[in-house]
Amino acid sequence: MTAVRSFEDLDALSRAAADEVVGIARAAVAARGACAIALSGGSTPTRLFDELARRGRSAAPWDQIDLWWGDERTVGPDHPDSNYGTARAHLIDPLALPPARVHRIAGEHADPAAAARAYEAALTEALGAPPVFDLVLLGMGADGHTASLFPGSPALAERTRAVVANPVVSPLVRGATTRITLTAAALSAARHVRFLAAGADKAPTLAAVLAGPRDRYPAQLIDGPDVVWLVDRAAAANLEDQPS
Ligand code: 6PG
Repeated sequence: MTAVRSFEDLDALSRAAADEVVGIARAAVAARGACAIALSGGSTPTRLFDELARRGRSAAPWDQIDLWWGDERTVGPDHPDSNYGTARAHLIDPLALPPARVHRIAGEHADPAAAARAYEAALTEALGAPPVFDLVLLGMGADGHTASLFPGSPALAERTRAVVANPVVSPLVRGATTRITLTAAALSAARHVRFLAAGADKAPTLAAVLAGPRDRYPAQLIDGPDVVWLVDRAAAANLEDQPS
């Protein structure tokens, strides 16, 4: 089931997303004693991370929350493009989260395929096969990619692996590169998926992803029992029936 919730701006969207993270985490810990969250990369979730940090350690059961990543660039943790580095600066360090609960992808590995296999092994050891996250946070690029599942990239066809090294050629990533990404199947196995999309540049693609033919964009591959898009007014501008 896919729902859309629209908010005035990114700040309001991020506050609502923080409420979702806290609510899902508390419910997961109450039900299973732990919560596994896959964080999104990109810039949109940074405001969410800052909001979670602002609320403080006691706002969520952080000692029972394991942080994973939906994808990572093939860079080291201190590189400005590192998705882990962004979360470390805006969430992990400000809340002094326990390192044992932070599971980054080794983007610096000389062999991205080996890094992907190692991450998949860690995930399946922790969460089973296929790994089932309590919450997956995702963004969407203006081309409809999500995580590092880019249009036309080989990972879109992956049906058995949970994590792969995905060669990407896209103007959105400044040419050709390799990304390490969870596959659509792994992302879709989550109990809860929350897409965060903000900005006018996302409006045409968001409308096409949500209301257009279902086989056009990687973001459309992500399904599951509870998929909710949190969008701001600018990104929702092209939606026929304006969400609540
Ligand atoms: C990444 C993300 C990617 C991101 C979108 C949107 O590694 O960059 O996984 O899928 O969510 O590109 O990025 P923005 O939030 O910066 O628009």
